[in-house]
Amino acid sequence: MIRAIVAYGDPVLKKEAEEVQENHPDLGQLIEDMWETMYEADGVGLAAPQIGLSLRLFVADGSPFGEGDGGDPGCVGFKRVMINPVLFDLSEETSSMDEGCLSIPGVREPVTRPERIGVEYYDQDWNLVEERLDGLAARIVQHENDHLDGTMIPDHVPAAKRMLLHGKLRDIGLGKVPVDYKMKFPKSRRR
Ligand code: NI
Repeated sequence: MIRAIVAYGDPVLKKEAEEVQENHPDLGQLIEDMWETMYEADGVGLAAPQIGLSLRLFVADGSPFGEGDGGDPGCVGFKRVMINPVLFDLSEETSSMDEGCLSIPGVREPVTRPERIGVEYYDQDWNLVEERLDGLAARIVQHENDHLDGTMIPDHVPAAKRMLLHGKLRDIGLGKVPVDYKMKFPKSRRR
């Protein structure tokens, strides 16, 4: 089932998400729904808070970035469900690249991140997995992991530039942006 993606401005996106319990009801169905929702929106990653669930869980499929000449070899077959992930050994070496987010339609901003990471997580069958990632796979995992801590692209943008983003972000919260997937916009808030 395709779930509505929550737009920037919804408080669920700012919260620190809760660990997923092994007996979480219908976890398999939830993960299926997340895949369906992500692919429908042409995304490469989707975190549970983005469908309104404050849980430490995300799905990611970077394989489109592994295709063709000049594709990122680390993305070939990179399709993961990560439950309760923990990052470690973040490299001092960083790189910057434009990122987008399904919750912030129409916005792309450069984000500087460590180039290499380690990540420990439970897979869908509750096996504890540890892996080392670099390049775009590392970037996707960091972006999605950020969602579990209430951090999004604008939080990575320098304060001076964030001012320029402000109007765009407000319009997203009000639903005044074109979007071709199912989205839930927070109600306009009076001040
Ligand atoms: Ni995102």
